[in-house]
Amino acid sequence: MSRTVITFGTFDVLHVGHLRILRRASAYGDRLVVGVSSDALNISKKGRPPVFSQAERIELISALEMVDEVFVEESLELKRDYIVGHGADVLVMGDDWEGRFDEFRDVCEVVYLPRTPSVSTTAVIEHIVTNHG
Ligand code: CTP
Repeated sequence: MSRTVITFGTFDVLHVGHLRILRRASAYGDRLVVGVSSDALNISKKGRPPVFSQAERIELISALEMVDEVFVEESLELKRDYIVGHGADVLVMGDDWEGRFDEFRDVCEVVYLPRTPSVSTTAVIEHIVTNHG
């Protein structure tokens, strides 16, 4: 039987850490579905708008070979609905979220993968501001 994997993120200023977690997530099943957080969600969560709009972030993630479907994550409160609605068998997240999604173990397997060291959207933005500002 085919297995669907789901993951979530902002994926702003796409970097190799994003690529690697999507590649590793896709290996947990046959189909990878990605929830890309909306611009509004980012503003409320991080207090700043993303560099790239949700339409641009979705276009980039959709173009990746390991990604089968992309949707907009409008609210953090809807995770369970997104997981069930997409028929996900596995939820994969980076280990910066370790333990935070264990409540969904009743509807799917939950896997936390180690983050790629030394890279993040925040670090890239800081690097550009410091060295190219
Ligand atoms: N991720 C990863 N390795 C990194 C950075 C991110 O595996 N070095 C993973 C996260 O754990 C998450 C997904 O990529 O599962 C999307 O993360 P996101 O928050 O969009 O990226 P960050 O680079 O962490 O963004 P920020 O600096 O704004 O928090």
